[in-house]
Amino acid sequence: MAKNKNNQAIWNTRIKKNSSNLFQKVGNSIDVDKRLYKEDIKGSIAHVEMLFKQKIISFKIKNKIIYGLNKIDKEIGNNKFEFNKKYEDIHMNIESRLFQIIGEEAGYVHTARSRNDQVITDFKIWIRAANNEININIDKVIKNTLKLAEKNIQTIMPGFTHLKNAQVISFAHYLMSYVEMFNRDKKRFLNNLDSLDENPLGVAALAGTSFNIDRNYTSRKLGFKRPTNNSIDTVSDRDFVLDFLYSISVCSMHISRIAEELIIWNSDGFNLINLSDKVVTGSSIMPQKKNPDLLEYLRGKSGNAYGNLFSMLTILKGLPLSYFKDLQDDKEIVFKSNDTLINCLKIFNEILKNCSPNKKKMLKLANTGYTTATDLADYLVKNHSMSFRKAYKKTASIVNLAEKEKKNLNELTLKELQKVEPKLKEDVLEIFDLGNSINSKKSYGGTSFDNIKKMIIKYKKKND
Ligand code: ARG
Repeated sequence: MAKNKNNQAIWNTRIKKNSSNLFQKVGNSIDVDKRLYKEDIKGSIAHVEMLFKQKIISFKIKNKIIYGLNKIDKEIGNNKFEFNKKYEDIHMNIESRLFQIIGEEAGYVHTARSRNDQVITDFKIWIRAANNEININIDKVIKNTLKLAEKNIQTIMPGFTHLKNAQVISFAHYLMSYVEMFNRDKKRFLNNLDSLDENPLGVAALAGTSFNIDRNYTSRKLGFKRPTNNSIDTVSDRDFVLDFLYSISVCSMHISRIAEELIIWNSDGFNLINLSDKVVTGSSIMPQKKNPDLLEYLRGKSGNAYGNLFSMLTILKGLPLSYFKDLQDDKEIVFKSNDTLINCLKIFNEILKNCSPNKKKMLKLANTGYTTATDLADYLVKNHSMSFRKAYKKTASIVNLAEKEKKNLNELTLKELQKVEPKLKEDVLEIFDLGNSINSKKSYGGTSFDNIKKMIIKYKKKND
């Protein structure tokens, strides 16, 4: 229950009895929302400056309040502030302390505002910074991915569809596909800033206020572009929370996909990726084990991100307008998702620095599963004027032959090949060279070594 300096509930004139002990215990949110203290103080300072400019409060009172708020800011920053659950949330904790510091004049700070607009103002400012902070961390991931890609342009591996060997690719090309994803993530977080551009402060409880406030002024002071348009919507709106949680979910999903691939490739069955001891853990019973626990952590955490998004969607489903206590959980959900993603990005960076391809094994695997079959079909189309479908069938017969002879395609002799297609000449053998296969994929976005080099240069410039 929110109380003032005499330890009385602020609403005790109206509500005579204390709320139940249990509710006092669970209804407060201070442990969670104290994280918004800087934003709350910043919002309050902008608010009282505006109240003074509009001649709603005096110069002296404005200064006293700002003095008190700055003092509180320092106290909290220096761990000298005693947060009290009795005061419910960060807003009431700060207001109560303001009373202690400057006395009764603290009572002016809440003129023409409500906690309903106050909390969203704080939260929007916080989420705005969080979007940027996440992008700084994504940038680091992109940089490290680019570094690994740069070292592995010539590293040949099988590309998979259905996890079956499909066509040959460069390991760098694979890594660059994640650079695309992480760049889209960055864009998504950046786009969120648009919906965070509108200032909620001044809509008060839900109806606006009879005071002659200037919401454009507080917008400018707090870095918003404009005030929100409708007071009821403003108090009820948590779309910006959903956007943030969704962006986090998508980014976590990307991390979980690459984590899963690296787990599979690090498995003894594949053995395509080495992980240094820094990013593996042992087993309590099997002395030989080196497990990719960190990657599993990354894969799993996307589940939490989706859960948080779903929690928020469910809280909002069917919730009438405008403010309800239900909404209070939004902060815990957002902080959890944010912190987990930041951790995941940091861990992922460590993994990128501590993983390397097993080049020999990659090459060996790339040479199995008839990965140059499509190249042969393309060759037949280009050199023996066949339709693609006809060339596809001829190639399938050649694959059948190789399978029967227990050979890879590049182990077949020209004679054997000519049994299926007599017109074939010596130069067909070059088609089965894996490097040639990769280099032939020069179409824009394809895996040719040149394409990859260009892409890496492009993204290095972009992320500088
Ligand atoms: N701590 C509250 C929250 O985060 C602040 C808003 C309280 N408003 C109210 N009408 N009870 O939701």
